[in-house]
Amino acid sequence: MLKNDILYELLNSNDYISGQYLAEKFGKSRAAVWKAIKALTAEGYDISAITNKGYKLTENNDLISEQSIKSYLKHNIDVIYYPSVDSTNNCCKRLLADGREGIFLVTADEQTAGRGRQGKSFYSPPLTGIYFSVVIRPHTSLHNAVTATTAAAVSVCRAIEKITDKNPKIKWVNDVYLDNKKICGILTEAITNFEDGTVDSVIVGIGINIKTTCFPDDVTAAGNLNTDISRSRLIAAVTDELLEIADSGYKSFIDYYRNHSLVIGEKIKFIQNSKVTPALAVAIDETGGLEVELENGEHTVLRSGEISIRKN
Ligand code: BTN
Repeated sequence: MLKNDILYELLNSNDYISGQYLAEKFGKSRAAVWKAIKALTAEGYDISAITNKGYKLTENNDLISEQSIKSYLKHNIDVIYYPSVDSTNNCCKRLLADGREGIFLVTADEQTAGRGRQGKSFYSPPLTGIYFSVVIRPHTSLHNAVTATTAAAVSVCRAIEKITDKNPKIKWVNDVYLDNKKICGILTEAITNFEDGTVDSVIVGIGINIKTTCFPDDVTAAGNLNTDISRSRLIAAVTDELLEIADSGYKSFIDYYRNHSLVIGEKIKFIQNSKVTPALAVAIDETGGLEVELENGEHTVLRSGEISIRKN
């Protein structure tokens, strides 16, 4: 797409790029280039346009780049950045299928087909949020999917608390909330080895709304972090927290998870086999499972699925 091709050129240039150069490079007319620049401006990119010089992204853009993320990251891992992709989780899957090794991070300014849990989509517009996936290897302690997913929620909250003045909470199992609005969703996917069924790698996909205010009609109770921090810095901070948890073992974060839970002591309902069951959320167990008390007084532990908090 011309708009994305031009954005990529602008992101990788410190100087003005002429409309003529862009038109020739992508085999399009100058008018088409101008239209693409206008579309980028409408999306929120601040582009300086000077006659006889061309186009340049100004300093006002909070841009994501491999270099800027790496400058904040404490861990030495590969960082891959795209202006626009279908889904960073899908990108990781493709890279893994092509034989990519090690721990790596994929991020994009926007996702055109961002995926959420249970087949839902995740709205991922450019500039106002961060969308990234970290590939972790099973020799770390995060090979258990529930563990990885709870660890990711803790990493997001810890990073936000460290670099902003906000105090987010976690709604089981891994939605991050601020002021009763969901600001972050996490989609964890395990890639298993066909031969022996072991987990080769775990893809932890994280999306955080930083300044997004308008959401599609079917997205309810979504909010944003509403802060001015650099997006690259937040991506790096969350990734460092996640890799630190991976290095130090599961017990290092479960107390934090409990202390930040939105649901303990709340009346909830959960869905299993299409059946809605009311319950009381009692505790989070050592592996991140949610212990609930049913209306008949029995206790059971939920290991996956969705819950919602109910008023009565
Ligand atoms: C949810 O709330 O249901 C989970 C949303 C997960 C969104 C992130 S954004 C980065 C990564 N790529 C995706 O396609 N999804 C995850």
